Amino acid sequence: MKTRDRLRIAMQKSGRLTEPALELLTRCGLTFRQSRDKLFCFGEGEPVDLLLVRDDDIPGLIAQGVCDLGIVGRNVLSEFQLTAGRELAPLSELRPLGFGRCRLSIAVPQELDYQLPQHLEGRRIATTYPGLLGEWLRTHGVNAGVVTLAGSVEIAPKLGTADAICDLVQSGGTLVANQLRETDVLLESEAVLAGPLTLPVDERGDMLELLMKRLDGVIQVRESRLLLLQTSRTTLEAVTRLLPGGPQPTLLAVAGQPDQLMLQALCAGEVSWRQLEEIKKAGAREMYVLPVEKMLA
Ligand code: PRP
Ligand code: ZN
Repeated sequence: MKTRDRLRIAMQKSGRLTEPALELLTRCGLTFRQSRDKLFCFGEGEPVDLLLVRDDDIPGLIAQGVCDLGIVGRNVLSEFQLTAGRELAPLSELRPLGFGRCRLSIAVPQELDYQLPQHLEGRRIATTYPGLLGEWLRTHGVNAGVVTLAGSVEIAPKLGTADAICDLVQSGGTLVANQLRETDVLLESEAVLAGPLTLPVDERGDMLELLMKRLDGVIQVRESRLLLLQTSRTTLEAVTRLLPGGPQPTLLAVAGQPDQLMLQALCAGEVSWRQLEEIKKAGAREMYVLPVEKMLA
């Protein structure tokens, strides 16, 4: 097979991960010739192209070498790893991406008396994730029937085709609408960057490495805030103790006010109003929380 010299990333064509995934790639400096209704988007500037597909197909495309990387839910990747044939190359989760958070859970009808996984013994559970569900049932030593459905799992109990379900939960709205109660979480999921276990060692490998570095920068920055504040030397210690985690703050002198200092700190996450109010009580003034635009370690 002729080797490709351009990197190819697979992502969901239309769904919950599409917009944030595109935004992430844009922030990494990648731009694509827009052809949303088509399967293939040519990358301008960098030699990285996009393949827009059904999310369930993404792991297989990477395993077959059709794509080098994929942006996909951990749930889809894990399910593939549990159920794919041995003839396919193994995959790995290269990076968690911090969006598309949801969980794969067991849910039962409100009226069903359920306390323990063992209460599912002999019952039928509908799911799109037979691999992950099967593993969980084995771990708990439960023998249950797994009813594999392609979608609309949540209506199975009402239709009488299953007694419980194992499905993704994000806001919980779908469960409430179907009078179901979430009981056990099997997997905490979010969008991840998936790739082969061994990365290519050609130009694509170099591009891949560069892309991962940018991605790390973008992810770090997305969660970073720069906190600026003024404090007197006497309250400095109390103020510093309340700063949200991160590297040591930088201190700057304030012209004409020898007992005052300007403090600058990079914070690892959001800084809430509550945190700001606490820091202010400890003696800080003139506080600013700024987003960070780019960062390269
Ligand atoms: C998922 C899942 C539930 C719903 C849960 O479906 O299968 O139906 O989201 O979300 P909620 O807790 O916010 O209500 P999705 O919309 O991804 O579509 P699909 O099941 O057709 O793939
Ligand atoms: Zn659904």
